[in-house]
Amino acid sequence: MPASARHQVTFRNKNQVTGTFITFEGIDGSGKSTQLRLLANYLKQAGCDILLTREPGGTPVGNRLRAALLDAQEEVDPLTELLVFAADRAQHVRRVLRPALALGQVVFSDRYADATAAYQGAGRGFSPELISEIIQLATEGLKPDLTLLFDLSVDDSTTRTRRRTNGSQRGDRLDSENAEFHTRVREAYLQLAQREPERIKVIKTSQPLELTHERVKETVVPFLRSRGHVPHHEVETSSSEFSR
Ligand SMILES: Nc1ncnc2c1ncn2[C@@H]1O[C@H](COP(=O)(O)OP(=O)(O)O)[C@@H](O)[C@H]1O
Ligand SMILES: [Mg+2]
Repeated sequence: MPASARHQVTFRNKNQVTGTFITFEGIDGSGKSTQLRLLANYLKQAGCDILLTREPGGTPVGNRLRAALLDAQEEVDPLTELLVFAADRAQHVRRVLRPALALGQVVFSDRYADATAAYQGAGRGFSPELISEIIQLATEGLKPDLTLLFDLSVDDSTTRTRRRTNGSQRGDRLDSENAEFHTRVREAYLQLAQREPERIKVIKTSQPLELTHERVKETVVPFLRSRGHVPHHEVETSSSEFSR
């Protein structure tokens, strides 16, 4: 954390809101990025400034790590994958997340540490002990204040990702894993939500995206308001937002 951000924490005025960290999780094609965009646009219109970021790839170094992993032309060893995601996260936590939260910002991240538990833990089979050690090392214990877990059947999410990648005829490396892999990942995510129901809210995304957006707003807006972030007026979401 830069010295200036540390200074801000020490001298934070009591009336100043503290930062809020919200993560968006779920299997590929479950609707994370779509709902993150809709919610961020809605909140922007309501006068709430959000820092949007993602993992992997929330920093310049992280972007290069993301590209190296997702576009790899050789087989990437699961241990390499685990460590590269951890490296990406370490950079993200120290250079982006902690400084922004120390300044009182609202931060939305498209994936974070739960993805490592689900993908590298349940998906690739690394032990829960190793996974939690690596997560602790990379995050220094920084946990989201709220996590939205977007949940959809593997079949439906595969159909949606196929539609998304139709143009290029191929998705990225993780898109092409088999259905059993994605099923293990999905189940692991749901178990995490059962273990931490206060933090992780499951949002079903089988419905049309307008309805999912309503559920997302019902979950996030009161939460942000309780932390002093959202102005008290409502805004209309324009219907053109939903055309894809
Ligand atoms: N509720 C929905 N109904 C139909 N299609 C959806 C819905 N939500 C998202 N999609 C579409 O599914 C695809 C995957 O959504 P996306 O937000 O990219 O998922 P993720 O970021 O979780 O991989 C996109 O083409 C998106 O437009
Ligand atoms: Mg996405």
